[in-house]
Amino acid sequence: MRKLRLGVMISGSGTNLQALIDACAAADYPAQIQVVISNRPDVRGLDRAAQADLTAITIDHKDFDDKESFEDAVHQCLSDHDVELVCLAGFMRLLTSTFVNRWRDRLINIHPSLLPSYKGLHTHARALEDGVRFHGCTIHYVRPEMDNGPIIMQAAIPIATDETEESLIAKTLTYEHKMYPAAVKLIAEGKVRASGNKVAFKDTDMGDEGIISPLP
Ligand code: GRF
Repeated sequence: MRKLRLGVMISGSGTNLQALIDACAAADYPAQIQVVISNRPDVRGLDRAAQADLTAITIDHKDFDDKESFEDAVHQCLSDHDVELVCLAGFMRLLTSTFVNRWRDRLINIHPSLLPSYKGLHTHARALEDGVRFHGCTIHYVRPEMDNGPIIMQAAIPIATDETEESLIAKTLTYEHKMYPAAVKLIAEGKVRASGNKVAFKDTDMGDEGIISPLP
């Protein structure tokens, strides 16, 4: 079967990368990882890639004079590996609009909040601080503004009364790991496409169950 060729960009532990690696191991999964790029050397995600016999390349941003030359190297590497879809998975550098526009509608990100709420860092702590009943995570096409772009998939996660930042991070990650392979599958199957500032879905079960927390 035809497989969508992925490039996965990481900066750290790579648990979302692992979820994609595990999904791609199935013969009937419609995508494969061509290359893993880390902007930091010696991170756990690179071990995961090596373990899975993937091509893993460190492009350390500190080795470059400026952001443009760093991103040119990343772009070249992705192109050299025939990447069709770039998955940011815990990649912690902001990308310039030049890079983002080069990969427009072929570049997705996972963010640990229900966007457009809680862009940026420390999302779990900020949600707890605000006392919102739901936290969550979002997969979206990337646009030049940080944590912005057409939303592909979201999980809403109720916050428990005894929730801590650590427990909420862990709980959110379990949903991230379910969603990333599922969202990539939708893209590979041609069921989603960016349309203006939204995503248009085709033959996709959107679900219709609302969640109330606390339960009435
Ligand atoms: C995840 O929470 C992801 O949403 C955010 O960074 C974290 C990366 O975790 N962008 P990992 O490296 O995939 O374990």
